[in-house]
Amino acid sequence: MEVKQILVYGAGLMGRGIAQVFSRNPEYSIVLYDIADNDVLGQVRKEMMSFVDQGIVDADTAEQQLSRISFTTGLSPELCQKTDLVVEAVFENMELKQSVFEKLEIMCRPDTIFCTNTSVMSPTEISARVKHKERFVGTHFWNPATLIPLVEVVKANGSSDEVAQQVYDILEKVGKKPVICQRDVPGFIANRMQHALWREAIYIVEQGIADAETVDKAVKYSFGLRLPQLPPLVNSDLVGTDLTYNIHEYILKYLCSDTTPSPLLVKMKEENKMGFKSGEGFFKWDDESIAAERKGLNDYLIHMLYKKDKE
Ligand SMILES: NC(=O)c1ccc[n+]([C@@H]2O[C@H](COP(=O)([O-])OP(=O)(O)OC[C@H]3O[C@@H](n4cnc5c(N)ncnc54)[C@H](O)[C@@H]3O)[C@@H](O)[C@H]2O)c1
Repeated sequence: MEVKQILVYGAGLMGRGIAQVFSRNPEYSIVLYDIADNDVLGQVRKEMMSFVDQGIVDADTAEQQLSRISFTTGLSPELCQKTDLVVEAVFENMELKQSVFEKLEIMCRPDTIFCTNTSVMSPTEISARVKHKERFVGTHFWNPATLIPLVEVVKANGSSDEVAQQVYDILEKVGKKPVICQRDVPGFIANRMQHALWREAIYIVEQGIADAETVDKAVKYSFGLRLPQLPPLVNSDLVGTDLTYNIHEYILKYLCSDTTPSPLLVKMKEENKMGFKSGEGFFKWDDESIAAERKGLNDYLIHMLYKKDKE
């Protein structure tokens, strides 16, 4: 089945970004659906125009992309019948996601591809009430969906190889760097590695080995700098897997292997040190430093991905 009509179910932060991603391919027509219209198309336009301002999309292309995206608060049987692929991006709530797909299965064709954009929940569990499980996969877009290239295509227990591959191919066609996660495991691929690093970073602070600023500085100016060019497994080959073996034989026993959150995180939670949202976490924050941090990340991503700098 050739995919042409895409339904993005849930028009929040991620849904709006995902719709913009698919609109890059002129073959696709995208309908965004949500229970309420909080000027969804106005927000999508604003987001697209910020890329025009940053010089990474030209104005004509942005208008063409916008013309491929529509919005509705009414899910008609006609729309569902012509939908070839659904990406669900509603709140991270198991019961809600399960009931969305239960309803979609009744309204859509049996060959409509179902994708769930969950951050952490099991696609297998989300598809529990779906009968045609072969057409169901996880698609973990990263925030901001318009910029971060990775999408993890996560195979649920019932997913077919063909559907996972078709979703992978569609994502490649719209400029993403998809990967297939062959098993439905918590954290999929990238978050398992990310949180292994965060656990050790927090442990180093908790143990008084170094403070938070030092930990982040050590990452930024060493392996963090070269990671996009020298990812871990190429790095392991570069130094030699025999050396990797020797290092691991010596060091792994000293690294944090806790299976519950750090006591430091528990204490910070009790003291309401929640980061940006409370003004203090590992560091102190105010409106100005928060805005600078967000802008710094956006500018960095655009520089890395499009080789452009904003003055
Ligand atoms: N925000 C992130 O960084 C991020 C990253 C990756 C994945 N995700 C996942 O993406 C999903 C969406 O997250 P978000 O950040 O866009 O959330 P959000 O709160 O911005 O948007 C969720 C949207 O779902 C809509 N919604 C809720 N119930 C609905 C229903 N019954 N029918 C239709 N629409 C409904 C809401 O109105 C809202 O617009 C979540 O599962 C989240 O875990 C989020």
